[in-house]
Amino acid sequence: MDLERKRIVLGLTGGVACYKAAELTRGLVKAGATVQVVMTNAATHFITPVTMQALSGRTVYTDQWDARIANNMPHIDLTRDADAIVIAPCSADFMFKLAHGACDDLLSTLCVARPMTVPLLVAPAMNVEMWQNPATQRNATQLRFDGIHILGPDAGEQACGETGMGRMLEPEQLLEEIIASFRNKVLTSKRVLITAGPTFEPIDPVRGITNLSSGKMGYAIARAAREAGAEVTLVSGPTALSTPFGVHRINVQTAQQMYDVVMSRAPSQDIFIAVAAVADWRVANASVQKLKKNEAGDVPQLQFEQNPDILAAVAALKDKPYCVGFAAESENLLEYGEAKRKRKGIPLLVGNIGHQTFGKDENELVLFDDAGNKRLARADKHDLARQLVSEIAGRL
Ligand code: C5P
Repeated sequence: MDLERKRIVLGLTGGVACYKAAELTRGLVKAGATVQVVMTNAATHFITPVTMQALSGRTVYTDQWDARIANNMPHIDLTRDADAIVIAPCSADFMFKLAHGACDDLLSTLCVARPMTVPLLVAPAMNVEMWQNPATQRNATQLRFDGIHILGPDAGEQACGETGMGRMLEPEQLLEEIIASFRNKVLTSKRVLITAGPTFEPIDPVRGITNLSSGKMGYAIARAAREAGAEVTLVSGPTALSTPFGVHRINVQTAQQMYDVVMSRAPSQDIFIAVAAVADWRVANASVQKLKKNEAGDVPQLQFEQNPDILAAVAALKDKPYCVGFAAESENLLEYGEAKRKRKGIPLLVGNIGHQTFGKDENELVLFDDAGNKRLARADKHDLARQLVSEIAGRL
């Protein structure tokens, strides 16, 4: 689980986005975290401590004078074993308090009392004018300067009926940010380009040839690279997956479209990871009109032509990024893997052990490079993606 054994203090301040904190709590608990909720008085006007207690499974604290804590020092007790403090929603007023070190309620006091090793993440939620107000922006600058992570806010429709910056990030986006905050930033400021999913080669306007790639491995690598601090562009064939948070996704259908997008961007990238199951051939005589059945039962005669090899083309560029390829072989992976790495002219090739990985949540990998080969044991694709990202970072 992504947050196994992590202890999170979740602080709620006054804002209508408190309803999203309920969903966030569920997500955190599901990801393995222990969630200790602390609410300001204003927050209790938007959502009750009862709801938050039921979802977190723990007593909710709202008052610094709480006799339930043996030494009556909840601001110390609640922070000493915390792995992170997350304020969601964080009001404009609470940003002001944090920026000035105010200690006039339990939540503000525990933020000031936290050991500096405990990261503090805040998710602003407020009306657009409040967010844009110079005082709020000054406070935001101060928070960043103090090493506090500001998550969002997002732009869009607001509960007050106005539109603009100030919406709190959605619970699943906050969850991704919290998970990412625990990862090593081994790819900070690196630009990473990834291909993923299958391609779709048309036969006519409604039919085509594709393959069983789900895109899960490529999407997991995109997520892991972004968690590691990279700026990630994902060039994706048709998949049913949602875009990992913070990743720039470009949709394509055919191998030729994927090639065009990749070649226009590759020279400005630091790393290129080709995970897509690109069709080797496209239909040379694809029909502009839908093919019709006829009485005689004639079947279409398809002719094929070869698609460009995207990975080999990037690897042949003068200003090439660090190139990583994938191989799905049904036999002799060790022999074919190293041969493929040489043929493509790349420093690292990742082989799927067994060819039954398409669509599955787990995988088992073997890495081929100049030093030989190395296995990554069977695991969830997200775990493997994180291991692969640190392997790549270590080789840069
Ligand atoms: O040659 P083969 O398809 O076995 O190689 C697989 C690797 O090459 C994968 O990394 C895949 O994304 C990439 N590839 C590509 N363009 C192609 C075919 C494969 O980038 N036309």
